[in-house]
Amino acid sequence: MTHDRDTLIAAAKAAQAKAYAPYSNFHVGAALGFADGSVVTGANAENASYGLALCAETNAVAKAMNEGRRGGLEAVAVVGGMHGNPGPTVTPCGRCRQVLNELAQLGETDPVIWCSGQDEVLELKLSALLPHAFGPANLG
Ligand code: THU
Repeated sequence: MTHDRDTLIAAAKAAQAKAYAPYSNFHVGAALGFADGSVVTGANAENASYGLALCAETNAVAKAMNEGRRGGLEAVAVVGGMHGNPGPTVTPCGRCRQVLNELAQLGETDPVIWCSGQDEVLELKLSALLPHAFGPANLG
C-alpha cells in the first residue's frame, strides 16, 4: 500500500473545506490515492435544483478521469459532516460506489475505503461495499 491512512484522510478533510453545500449544509470531502503515489481530491457541489447535487467521491473520480487516469486506484478516504463538523461515519452513497468501481475495475484493483467519522475510521474494501459489481469487464 502506497498510501498512509491518516495522510489520505487529511487530504479528504482539506478537500471538504471546499464543499459547496448551501442546501444540505452537509460538507463532504474525498481523496483518491493512486499507485504512483498521487492523490486526487473532490468535494460535494450542490445545485439550486437540489436533486442535481454532485457527491465528493464522484467529483474526485471525474477529476481523475479528466486527468487521463484509467486505473491505479488503491485507496479512498471519505469524510463528511454537518457544517464540516465531525459526525457519524459516512460511507459512499450507492451511486458513488458504482462510479468508484469504474476506475477500480479499469485498473483491476479493489481499493480500500477509509470512512472517517468522529469516533472511528471504518475500513472497507470497495468489493464489500459493492459486491457482485457490474462494470466495464461485463461489456468487454
Ligand atoms: N454526499 C456526498 O458528497 N457523498 C456521499 O457519499 C454522501 C452524500 C453529499 C451529497 C449532498 O451534497 C450532501 O452530501 C447531502 O446528501
